[in-house]
Parts: sequence; C-alpha cells; structure tokens
Amino acid sequence: MPTPRRGTSKDQPTAVSATGLRKSYGDKLVLDGVDLHIPAGSVFALLGPNGAGKTTVVKILSTLLSAGEGSGGIRVGGHDLATDPQSVRAAIGVTGQFSAVDGLITGEENMLLMADLHHLPRREGKRVAAELLARFGLTEAAKKPASTYSGGMKRRLDLAMTLVGDPRIIFLDEPTTGLDPRSRHNMWQIIRELLSDGVTVFLTTQYLEEADQLADRIAVLHDGRIAAEGTADELKRLIPGGHIRLRFDDPAAYRSAAVALRDATLAPAPGPARPGGAPDDESLTLQIPSDGTQRELRSLLDWLDSIGVEADELTVHTPDLDDVFFALTGGSDATDQTKETVR
Ligand SMILES: Nc1ncnc2c1ncn2[C@@H]1O[C@H](COP(=O)(O)OP(=O)(O)OP(=O)(O)O)[C@@H](O)[C@H]1O
Ligand SMILES: [Mg+2]
Repeated sequence: MPTPRRGTSKDQPTAVSATGLRKSYGDKLVLDGVDLHIPAGSVFALLGPNGAGKTTVVKILSTLLSAGEGSGGIRVGGHDLATDPQSVRAAIGVTGQFSAVDGLITGEENMLLMADLHHLPRREGKRVAAELLARFGLTEAAKKPASTYSGGMKRRLDLAMTLVGDPRIIFLDEPTTGLDPRSRHNMWQIIRELLSDGVTVFLTTQYLEEADQLADRIAVLHDGRIAAEGTADELKRLIPGGHIRLRFDDPAAYRSAAVALRDATLAPAPGPARPGGAPDDESLTLQIPSDGTQRELRSLLDWLDSIGVEADELTVHTPDLDDVFFALTGGSDATDQTKETVR
C-alpha cells in the first residue's frame, strides 16, 4: 500500500535545503547546480541512473564530502552546513550505499559500537541496542557474527545502527538494492514507521516503484541537475500519455491491421486523427497512443472497428515512473513506440 502523501505546506519547517549545489571530481563535473527543498517529516527520493551523482549528493548533505566551489547555501536540520557541520552531524543519520556493518563482530557489538560513538552511557547503550535489534527482528541473530547475516539482515542492522543516535533526518543511499521482494517490502515498512515518528527521510534509489510507494516528492537527477521534481503523479503527467497495445496471433491479420492503421492515419478524414500505430513485426504487436480513459478507449475501439482491425489481445499501458525515468534520463524515449513493457 502506498504511503499516504503528506502535505507539503509552506509553514512546515525545512529539513534540508540546498541551492546551486556543485561538485566536480578533478575536471569531471558531477553536480552542476542542484536545488533541493525538503520539508521536515517527509520522504524525498532522489532518482538517477548509475553515476548520476546521487551518492555524491548524500555525502555532501551528510558532511562526508565538501560541497564544490561556487555552491550556494546548504542547511540541514536548521543548521548551516558550512559553518556548523557538528550540529548537522548531530541531527542526521546516514546509511551508506555500501554497508557500514563490521562482519567480524556480532550484530549486538556493532550496535554497541555505535552507542559508544554517540557517547551513550553503557547501560543506556545496551538498552537502545536491544530495543533496536528487537524492532528490526535481529534479537535472535544478535550474538552471531554479522558476516553470517543475509543481505537483508545486514541492511536492517545497518539501518538499526543509523538509528542509535535517534536522528531526525535520515539519509538512505539505495536502502533496498540487492534485497529480495519480501525484504524490500520489510524495509519499506520500516521506513514508513520512521515517518510516522516524524523523521525526515532522504533516500536514493534505482527502483522507481520504491520512489512511487514511499516518496512524497521525487527528483530525477540527470546531467548534474534536477531534470524534474514533483510527486509521483506530477512526474507521470510530465510525459505523454500511455498507449494501447494490440497483439495478433496471425501474422497475416497483423500485417493487414498495420496497413489499415497506417492508411487510416495518413488519410486526412474520416476518423479521429491518430498518430500511426507503431508496428513490432517480431511480437506481432501494434501500439497506439492513448491516455487510457474510458472515453478515449471507446472512441479508439469504434475507430478500430471502422477500419476493420480486430486484435487477439488488447492491453492498456498507462505511463509509470519507468517511462518518466527513461524520458528524462535519455535511456529511451517516452514516446518510444517499440517499448515492450505493458502493465
Ligand atoms: N572519489 C571520486 N573520485 C572521482 N570520481 C568520483 C568519485 N566518486 C564518484 N565519482 C564519479 O562521480 C560520478 C557520480 O558518482 P556517484 O557515486 O555520486 O553516482 P551515483 O548516482 O550514486 O551512482 P550509483 O547509482 O552507481 O550509486 C560518477 O561518474 C563517479 O564515477
Ligand atoms: Mg550511489
């Protein structure tokens, strides 16, 4: 079940803000003016292809890496990152892309190490460690070396370690990469629980469904800039509508439908103006742009009847975040008519 979208009204305090964030590695420009504004208590997802700079953003915002020359102001948890990094560090927790878990010691020992880093008194540290291990379903495994944990258990331990200092803002860099679907859903549930505690979550992900499920706002990072930002629905509206996919069993029926569609499209009248149905000779499918509404579908079906096209299977494809991602990051074109995926 998707997380209920929280409002992002102007009077909500800001958890993270950055203007014109820049970063280069040598002469390679990675961030070329990234603006962020994340209201407290919300989930923000930063999407982007491999190498887009997601981890770089997380590292800068969490004080692990300095912002590049020419960057504007950055505030995290109400503190100025440039002048007061100590206060920023006290307010945040970071679960990096690559595990911070030490495999040689037990899960419990990893937790106690974090408690020491946060200067918790011994007794308090033990209590917090036991509480978090229980919350993440790791009590039984607590005394075993972390190297014996599964990927999902390690990820949970990683996040439990991040929570030791009770941070109000959490950065999660690809929290579910490599997890199986059940572990991924467990992690989503954990993230939702954090939110209900009022924590702000900044996550990066490659999984569009993850952003769709969890995030109040999503930003797509591409070519060093935010290519688009908004709610999942707003982003989906940015790209052209979906399409209807017609599949034929019989190659002859497919070919005559393709010709009929092409002729109908080329003819100025009669019939509604429709861009040509893109043929795919291998899978015997034709795709016709459509917004998938009942009204459109009815008129499309009437039109297909009128030109004598009868498919063996008809599926409606509405745009999803994958389409947005491909459209914005240039991996493919949103209007790519040969796209196979149908939902
Ligand atoms: N320490 C570094 N020195 C030089 N180049 C770096 C360094 N760290 C990252 N880069 C480069 O900067 C770019 C952005 O890297 P970053 O790790 O931020 O991307 P990412 O979006 O997190 O990618 P992924 O999805 O693969 O985790 C990449 O081209 C990467 O090779
Ligand atoms: Mg990364």
